[in-house]
Amino acid sequence: MNPVNVGLLGLGTVGGGTFNVLNRNAAEITRRAGRGIRITHAAAREFDAAGLPGIEAINVSDDAFAVVDNPDIDIIVELIGGYEPARELVLKAIANGKHVVTANKALIALHGNEIFSAAQDKGVMVAFEAAVAGGIPIIKALREGLSANKIHWLTGIINGTGNFILTEMRDKGRDFDDVLREAQALGYAEADPTFDVEGIDAAHKLTILASIAFGIPLQFDKVYTEGISRITREDVAYAEAFGYRIKHLGYTRRTDKGIEMRVHPTLIPERRLIANVDGVMNAVLVNADAVGATLYYGAGAGAEPTASAVVADIIDLVRTLTADPENRVPHLAFQPNAIADIPVIAMEEVETAYYLRMQVTDKPGVMASVASILGDAGISIEAILQKEPAPGAEQASIILLTHVVQERQMNTAIRQIEALDTIHGDIMRIRLEHLDCD
Ligand code: HSE
Repeated sequence: MNPVNVGLLGLGTVGGGTFNVLNRNAAEITRRAGRGIRITHAAAREFDAAGLPGIEAINVSDDAFAVVDNPDIDIIVELIGGYEPARELVLKAIANGKHVVTANKALIALHGNEIFSAAQDKGVMVAFEAAVAGGIPIIKALREGLSANKIHWLTGIINGTGNFILTEMRDKGRDFDDVLREAQALGYAEADPTFDVEGIDAAHKLTILASIAFGIPLQFDKVYTEGISRITREDVAYAEAFGYRIKHLGYTRRTDKGIEMRVHPTLIPERRLIANVDGVMNAVLVNADAVGATLYYGAGAGAEPTASAVVADIIDLVRTLTADPENRVPHLAFQPNAIADIPVIAMEEVETAYYLRMQVTDKPGVMASVASILGDAGISIEAILQKEPAPGAEQASIILLTHVVQERQMNTAIRQIEALDTIHGDIMRIRLEHLDCD
């Protein structure tokens, strides 16, 4: 059988990794796919030819549309990233009847509904395993391996840069800005690092995971998103004192009222396996009714880990080239006519536990007035810690953990506590999840 021809858009970190993995493992890949797979045409503005042995044998130009329009290409691999021209290129490839593989989480999270609908109409597939958690095959696990289950919730460390920053702050007591600079220098961070630290990158990935877990349309605009830039070394240390770690989690849960989708710093018990996922590594914990808890761990970024997912998608597409479109695995795991319009819950309706840290005047009765506001709001305190003032200072820190409460009630209580003249500055609030899987 003739080899399948692939057109590659982008020869950067992931594009280069994909080129090298496909070449290096060509024989093994052919045994798995049943046909040879070869990149015959690529587009890149600039690339490092020395790191891409064999690149001279293929047609490389800076014209991505020429690759998409090349009639000899069967599969387009989009590794340019960003919204445009990636969207236009992918839609053009689909219109030309080509299958598409992409690692572009932003593209799928924002434009996936349009792209999948176009692909459906044209009878082609768009594969995007590399868009979430790099080399971890979490899309395949959710869409196929767990397809017998009703999924209750899933949570993930799905941004390596943010996890690296929190790990370094905890282990080495380093400051946020200092670690971020290192993450940028190491090439982990997005082109715009605010995407990493403000949770936008994680929200892109969570959007995709929630759709596949619950069979709902992609709704990036409904994800509550909060970054890690306000987290201090003290918060990391206090969390540790209570037996918790602070992780930047993406979290989505099915409730009676609808679906929660949220990305924010979260205290989780340090005994959970996912609490011990450190550095740039990613992990996704899925709690489903039949299988219970399953945890997926691995490299969430980097040239060859991400290429591993891209090439697996190419192999999958090659295997399904001869299958009728209706017999393929659906893009969002559920059949297109079975995607459900389940409401996404507003953040104020969400129920969770909290870590609160506040600066208080060190005098009798302050703790009682804080406890009284919380008590009146029906908020139960689980643990409390007071740090004495520094020598010569008059303010102490109170840190407390609460039981589960609705976010709206907590917002009201925080406003009332902040209005006390014995409370100084804003209260630091971090949500807390126990991640029980019973
Ligand atoms: N900037 C991303 C991260 C890269 O740090 O996880 C992989 O999506």
